[in-house]
Amino acid sequence: MTRPTIGIIGAGKVGGVLARLLKQAGYEIGAVYSRSNAEALAQAVDAEVTGSSAEVVAKADLVLLAVPDDVIQSVAVALEKANWQGKGVVHTSGVHDADLLVPLVSQGAMIGSLHPAFPFTEAAVSTLAGVTFAIEAADETLRGWLIAIVDALEGNPFLIPPGEKALYHAALVFASNYTVTLYAVAETLLRRLGAEPEAAEAALNALMVGTVANLQAKGVPGALTGPLVRGDSGTVEAHLAALEAVDSPLAEVYRLLAQLSLPMVKERGVPVDVMGKLFAALNKPYI
Ligand SMILES: NC(=O)c1ccc[n+]([C@@H]2O[C@H](COP(=O)([O-])OP(=O)(O)OC[C@H]3O[C@@H](n4cnc5c(N)ncnc54)[C@H](OP(=O)(O)O)[C@@H]3O)[C@@H](O)[C@H]2O)c1
Repeated sequence: MTRPTIGIIGAGKVGGVLARLLKQAGYEIGAVYSRSNAEALAQAVDAEVTGSSAEVVAKADLVLLAVPDDVIQSVAVALEKANWQGKGVVHTSGVHDADLLVPLVSQGAMIGSLHPAFPFTEAAVSTLAGVTFAIEAADETLRGWLIAIVDALEGNPFLIPPGEKALYHAALVFASNYTVTLYAVAETLLRRLGAEPEAAEAALNALMVGTVANLQAKGVPGALTGPLVRGDSGTVEAHLAALEAVDSPLAEVYRLLAQLSLPMVKERGVPVDVMGKLFAALNKPYI
């Protein structure tokens, strides 16, 4: 399969990293457009800077729309006049379906989405090896291009059924964003006990690195440690009493998370009935 020439619209974090890594992997980057910051990226990937988003289409076979979620649709509308025959366009949003690009189908475009399941921050990203990329593409040629791109980046392609992006993205938010939220909760509790920020972070970083290593080595439910898998209901009771004393809603969150953990505890062969009374406050069956 011939490699498509890539066009980038949106020279931000995702557009920048994909352009640079695709260039390194041997793809030609035909053009870059961004309203204000395209020059540095274009220079780095040996591409042209265009004066409008529509001009990118003429210089590329496959256009990556790496713009904020909320403007994908309006950017697509601005591309309606371009000649899309034989060309593809994908956005990189995790939550939106490829449907946002439907207006371009009547112009001949193959539409899809390509979402790297990776937290891009301002820091430079030197590799996306091992990262999963969700792919939506009804057209076989476009699907082939996207799978080849993910292979070239040493990532893992994950084909998403149509209409399921929001659920897919919610899954990633649980694993990534809410891990940060839970870390912040733990940090606040340690700070309450007088820990300096550095001390709280050192304690939590070591704990979380160990947890991720356990997950990588043992997966679910093997990586679960703590009072639930030891069957220590007295410890859970003590946690709930301590949390109720300082932050009652947090005790509720603890109960919910414990309840979600019980199927794993059961799978590990630990009796869970003794925990039942601890979850009575949820007013629903605990497993
Ligand atoms: N950040 C992540 O961790 C992550 C991970 C996976 C997927 N994504 C998805 O990737 C997409 C881009 O996210 P990002 O984090 O790269 O955002 P970002 O860093 O804010 O970059 C977006 C870029 O789009 C450009 N832009 C904004 N409005 C535009 C317009 N109307 N026309 C052309 N360019 C425009 C902006 O540059 P100018 O102001 O110069 O135009 C900006 O550089 C989003 O759909 C996001 O959901 C993000």
